[in-house]
Amino acid sequence: MKNAQVKATQLKDYVAPAFLVDHVDLAFFLKPEATKVHSKIKIRQNSNSKKPLVLDGDELRLDSVSIDGRVLSTDEYLLNEFSLTVPDFPAEGELEIVTFIDPVQNTKLEGLYLSGGNFCTQCEAEGFRRITFYPDRPDVMATYTVTVHADKASYPILLSNGNLIDQGVNEDGSHWARWDDPFPKPSYLFALVAGDLACHEDVFKTRSGQDVTLKIFVEHGNEDKCAYAMDSLIRSMKWDEDRFGLEYDLDIFNIVAVSDFNMGAMENKSLNIFNSKCILASPDTATDMEFERIEAIVAHEYFHNWTGNRVTCRDWFQLSLKEGLTVYRDQEFTADMRSAPVKRIQDVRTLRARQFPEDSGPLSHPIRPESYIEINNFYTSTVYEKGGEVIRMMAEILGKEGFRKGLDLYFKRHDNQAVTCDDFVAAMEDANGVDLNHFRLWYSQAGTPEVEASWSYDAEEKSFTLTLDQLTAPTPGQKTKQPLLIPFTVGLIGENGEELSLKLQGESDDGPVTSRCTLRFDQEHQTFKFIDVHQRPTPSLNRNFSAPIKLSTKYTTEDLGFLMGHDKDAFSRWDAAQTYASRLILKMVQTIQEGGSPKFDAQYAEKVALNIADKSLDPAFLAQMLTLPSVDYVTEQMEVADFAAVEKARSVFKVGIAKALFEQFKDLYLVANDTMPYSPDSISAGRRALRNAALGYLSVIDDPECLKLVVAQFDTSDNMTDRMVALSLLADIPGEEREKALSEFESRYADNTLVMDKWFAVQATSTIPNALDEVKKLLSHSAFSYKNPNKVRALIGAFSGANPARFHAEDGEGYRFLADSIIRLNSINPQVASKILAPLGSWRRMNATHQKMMKTELQRILDTENLSNDVYEIASKSLS
Ligand code: TRP
Ligand code: ZN
Repeated sequence: MKNAQVKATQLKDYVAPAFLVDHVDLAFFLKPEATKVHSKIKIRQNSNSKKPLVLDGDELRLDSVSIDGRVLSTDEYLLNEFSLTVPDFPAEGELEIVTFIDPVQNTKLEGLYLSGGNFCTQCEAEGFRRITFYPDRPDVMATYTVTVHADKASYPILLSNGNLIDQGVNEDGSHWARWDDPFPKPSYLFALVAGDLACHEDVFKTRSGQDVTLKIFVEHGNEDKCAYAMDSLIRSMKWDEDRFGLEYDLDIFNIVAVSDFNMGAMENKSLNIFNSKCILASPDTATDMEFERIEAIVAHEYFHNWTGNRVTCRDWFQLSLKEGLTVYRDQEFTADMRSAPVKRIQDVRTLRARQFPEDSGPLSHPIRPESYIEINNFYTSTVYEKGGEVIRMMAEILGKEGFRKGLDLYFKRHDNQAVTCDDFVAAMEDANGVDLNHFRLWYSQAGTPEVEASWSYDAEEKSFTLTLDQLTAPTPGQKTKQPLLIPFTVGLIGENGEELSLKLQGESDDGPVTSRCTLRFDQEHQTFKFIDVHQRPTPSLNRNFSAPIKLSTKYTTEDLGFLMGHDKDAFSRWDAAQTYASRLILKMVQTIQEGGSPKFDAQYAEKVALNIADKSLDPAFLAQMLTLPSVDYVTEQMEVADFAAVEKARSVFKVGIAKALFEQFKDLYLVANDTMPYSPDSISAGRRALRNAALGYLSVIDDPECLKLVVAQFDTSDNMTDRMVALSLLADIPGEEREKALSEFESRYADNTLVMDKWFAVQATSTIPNALDEVKKLLSHSAFSYKNPNKVRALIGAFSGANPARFHAEDGEGYRFLADSIIRLNSINPQVASKILAPLGSWRRMNATHQKMMKTELQRILDTENLSNDVYEIASKSLS
């Protein structure tokens, strides 16, 4: 069997490093095809274990090895494909290694590579070993001095971590710069950039009065698109001081934006490197959602300076230690900058769309995995987003102040250390004098708990009894599951929508009277009794999504309609609408499958109308209320997935609402017409979101007047948000207007590679029947390239991941197309290839015909020659 030699790394096998590194001194002589890397590292034995010194390496050309100035002969070390071993390294010594690397051939975008003619690096998780031989693991922390030599004309800017301590010019036209990073760091945080870049500069004064120079470097011509990222950075720095007392710790903070990047951004110490998509924005080129994303990612990477860099991970199984915590921090930041309830709704939407399917499929793993073949495959929605939810639950249990105390203790104990998730929980426990042992199960148990809630009201006794049951289905490698400690926030709503005060039976009277409380739900089956409830209430459950669970309830449609109109918890109000709409759509799906024609139920539209009429609602929130559950979300709730039927039912449902509330939508669109000049702030963005949601409904009515509105918005809007909404609505309506808009957009933005990504994606996600044929044609468009991850995601990733009805087409063409793409990408960029594979793993949820076609494609991928570990791991797990 292929790749049978591939070994998985296990958490239980962790051993401390045999050698530690105190200081790293690197010199780079940058040449596109042959860069020389001269490394001098001060090494010392970690214990008297007398183990050989083993260094990691990958695709390196070794030139020489010396110890304390003495060159080793080839029989004094052992070189193989992925390591360099020195059997008799002394207890302490300086190891000097010269290697050559080829940045031009580096299409994996890991290690040192070229993007747009500039040198840049990406080392997390194990990319440093593609630069030089090194103990490339996060628990080896060292200070670094880095000297970069390069041609001055081609690479005027030379950057690395820390402070610039010296620079000079050579006679041959080259120049050099020396950087020194005083903070010990693991190799994955190393970074280097050399190129011809423009700079946008500002300054931040820390709370203790230190001036920090802030620079954002971009390709020439993009200087005018940095202001929003810079503003976001400054607000992040201030926020982290105010909320968590965390200050920046160096005099410089640099950001570099590059076009070729495997993910969003990277938190290298004082030299963050970003996918240009997550930095560059102007009203004409970026949508409101993209502005918001830039703000969040700039904050996320900045926040890593404390949660990730100052305190880092002992090993990669602990990845959620830094990622979950930093996701939680960036979510809180956005909640403070914008609307907190809307942010919560958006985050739950993403969690349900990405993490829930992952956790119920073949790739399910706990937020702290126990084994991996390729660590790059574990930068998942589970580790990040569910990891963030686990931190959020702790904050909910401990309270804002308790959480802050825990975090303070965590930094006090572990600054400059590489630690574990357990260390984090222990700090939370010790700072608050609580026992979180049961809670720890969230770190090791995979799967989404399913919670069933039922209740009864006793009119005589004036009591309300809530019964909760929890069950987590088996996941790969974990057959039996234990009940988790679930913080379950509830409220009781009176018949006029008022919040009833809550009193749990058996609880003392001296606590404050509240209308919401967080139940400690930690058994399989548990009952909670509220007393002094003077009227029959409607319960509001898992408020603000207090735990990442799937909740099923005995709500009647009347209950859901009531909550949709009255729940004071914005999240639960929105969720009631989602549940209500999903139920109705699923009922229509059933009709379609039985060969009938689905009928629209007008009651839902009446509840929507009540929301529209409620002028007290924030437009951004109302826009969320108007957004129907996605095809994916509804399909998730079916025994056997039928994407085509769900897409059809959802569309009939949408047309039904559009017709029933035609006047309201026209009003929302025309009366609320925004004549103010564009501003990306969240209030304006919310107003635009509402108008565009209304336009979305109008656009599905088969009416030339409505089509005209969409076309007019496309033609006249002064910003990308409105233009893009119009374009994506037109992209779903076959005809002349569609073709005209797409071609106008293409010629207008032909020179802007990031905007062209949107143009690719809008066609890849179109509901037109021949979307796949269009996608295939676009593969030969001059702006498309398999080597650029953004392009691959915009066209191939968007089609397979965000156009379910076309991807799962009856003829299996969608599956074949994705497998072909993955096989091709396997040799170019395995990380990108394996990231787009997941949709093929959902075969268990399909009917027999589809199952067979999907498995055939997975097998075809597995049969590919030279299959990367990345793709092998995901494909084999998906098939098993
Ligand atoms: N640590 C980065 C973050 O969460 C993400 C990251 C990990 C990454 N590996 C990467 C980014 C590889 C780009 C390429 O912010
Ligand atoms: Zn991160």
